[in-house]
Amino acid sequence: MRVRVNRTVKNNLLVSKASLLVLAGVLSLGAPSPDCAWSQHPGGAAARAQLEAGKFAYDRYCAGCHGAKGDGKGPAAKFLNPQPRDFISGKFKFASVPSGELPADEDLLRTITRGLHGTSMPAWNLLPEHQRLALVAYLKTFAPRWKEEPPGTPIQIPEDPYRGSAADIRKAVKEGEKLYHTLTVCWQCHPGYVAPSQIAAWAKEANQPFTSVRPNWYQPVVKEDGWGQMLKPTHFATDRIKTGLELNSLFRIIAAGVGGTAMPTWKNTIKDEQIWAVAYYVRSLADQRNNPLRNLPLSSPTPAAPPPAQAAAAPAPVAASAAAPAKAAESKPAPAKAAATNPYE
Ligand code: HEC
Ligand code: HEC
Repeated sequence: MRVRVNRTVKNNLLVSKASLLVLAGVLSLGAPSPDCAWSQHPGGAAARAQLEAGKFAYDRYCAGCHGAKGDGKGPAAKFLNPQPRDFISGKFKFASVPSGELPADEDLLRTITRGLHGTSMPAWNLLPEHQRLALVAYLKTFAPRWKEEPPGTPIQIPEDPYRGSAADIRKAVKEGEKLYHTLTVCWQCHPGYVAPSQIAAWAKEANQPFTSVRPNWYQPVVKEDGWGQMLKPTHFATDRIKTGLELNSLFRIIAAGVGGTAMPTWKNTIKDEQIWAVAYYVRSLADQRNNPLRNLPLSSPTPAAPPPAQAAAAPAPVAASAAAPAKAAESKPAPAKAAATNPYE
């Protein structure tokens, strides 16, 4: 039985190898034209074969949005917001390298594999890894920048100092909340999530002057991005976080920043431990999106309590209603208390 399975696998491999050869033949019949990005590729035959496989997959799966030339102007692009990335500028948003530097291959592979939540960029996890790697290699042929400079050095994700008890998580959320609204001024672009009176109280505690918060305090401040588009900084309680909700990936994106946008690199500006704390806080805000009470009319019966393990492990929802952040934030969120008891009460 096992032999047979192996044989089928082998046969499939042979078929796909054969079809690649045929494909390679067809492509080379057209003669390696001078604008063929990989025809002069300095790498060996293996590198060229990978680029051919990459082009094949790109034209099939990506060109509809990102454009056959990689200019971000595929036929679907005009219907999309945010716009598909153009790969010619060599500017990228989501990476583990300081914002503005060229991403590492593993960053491109991660984006392709996981997609970008809340945008039209799909997750391509069903494509085999060698095909995703070929896509990475091919994407890098669009921008001259790849030949001119090396990719940035990935920021390593250090150990999470708050990974432990539910009490540690509550501490992280609380510290993150304060940092977010004081030292790291994340609200310059993202919304404020606590009442102005709380900001005044923190300022008083630190002997700092306080006059007032910015206008539209509970809304993000829309800014132009590096591609000339208006971009709304994430409202964590209502928008999807494009790179996902895992704490590691929140650490990565906060530490690295978002290339081509106003979102700065925080690594070395604040301590790693502080980045972890704001990551926990952002996560607690994002968890409100999953709060079953969020969209229920106030008169509805209270839904059943979640299993105790989940209630204890989840970072506390910061405010009950994300749909009305202004009102919700007026009543000062008390994460520590909410997580200790049933958050749905
Ligand atoms: C349905 C449209 C669509 C398709 C199909 C699509 N993408 Fe995207 N892609 C997008 C959009 C939109 C963005 C930009 C999201 C943003 O800016 O927040 C994006 C962003 C990206 C990025 C992120 C670049 C950065 O700035 O960090 C990469 C890499 C990428 N796409 C690769 C691919 C590859 C490879 C394929 C094919 C396997 C593909 N995309 C197919 C819509 C699409
Ligand atoms: C100067 C403006 C600015 C400041 C300050 C700022 N951000 Fe951002 N941030 C942005 C913008 C713009 C985006 C949107 C990027 C996008 O959606 O493509 C963003 C996106 C994000 C994302 C989501 C990335 C994703 O995957 O969708 C997180 C998380 C984030 N910021 C956290 C923070 C935290 C925490 C702070 C404070 C420590 C902060 N930001 C400070 C502008 C800013």
